[in-house]
Amino acid sequence: MNSINTNWRQLGSKFIVLIVLAVAVLFAIVSCSGKAPSKTQGIAPEVVVDYLHKIIEAERSVYTEHVVNRLGESGVMKTSENWKNEKNLPLPAQMLRMAAEESSQDGAFTYRLISPWNINDEQSPKTEFEKKGMENVIKTGEPFKELQTINGNQYFSAIYPDKAVSIACVKCHNNHPVHKKRYPNKFFSIGDVMGGIELNLPLK
Ligand code: HEC
Repeated sequence: MNSINTNWRQLGSKFIVLIVLAVAVLFAIVSCSGKAPSKTQGIAPEVVVDYLHKIIEAERSVYTEHVVNRLGESGVMKTSENWKNEKNLPLPAQMLRMAAEESSQDGAFTYRLISPWNINDEQSPKTEFEKKGMENVIKTGEPFKELQTINGNQYFSAIYPDKAVSIACVKCHNNHPVHKKRYPNKFFSIGDVMGGIELNLPLK
């Protein structure tokens, strides 16, 4: 009888220990989950620029391949720099610029094309970041990312490789009179890095 009592007592104390442990674990879970949102609030800037770039790049490729290349090859409509007056299609670079102007109206972020083999003088790498980043991207084929301070404001900036994804990119650039004159020995092939897409995300 005594030994049965001792067993019950032992079991009882084990049960209490278990309950105490369970409460402690529950408390830990609740207090951790309470803190979790503040830790994960906001997405890291390097991830945000990756997302933005994915969309810009996808739309650029789709427009070049399925509109410019398709309509050009079939002779339905060509592209030209003076597309509005000539009733042609805008160049892929003009398309990107128009979209960049629209989307940066509220000052959320900016993006643009640059290249050391630029046709348009506005699009040569100009700042230290652009020069260093573009050189790096051409060497590695990988994006270049860095924090920048411009006029006292902090930006997370990135340059992604702008590659010749369509035969239209290669044909048009290699045969452009400005390209031929400025870079007579530079012939792009499919897959080559032709320049970069630069993104500047304000960190305010
Ligand atoms: C039909 C001709 C044409 C096609 C197709 C074309 N480009 Fe361009 N691209 C140009 C011209 C012209 C410019 C400069 C004029 C401007 O920016 O308004 C330019 C600008 C650029 C620039 C900025 C540097 C510069 O040269 O001023 C890059 C980078 C670039 N193109 C890469 C590409 C890639 C990659 C593709 C394919 C996805 C492509 N281009 C398709 C004609 C073309």
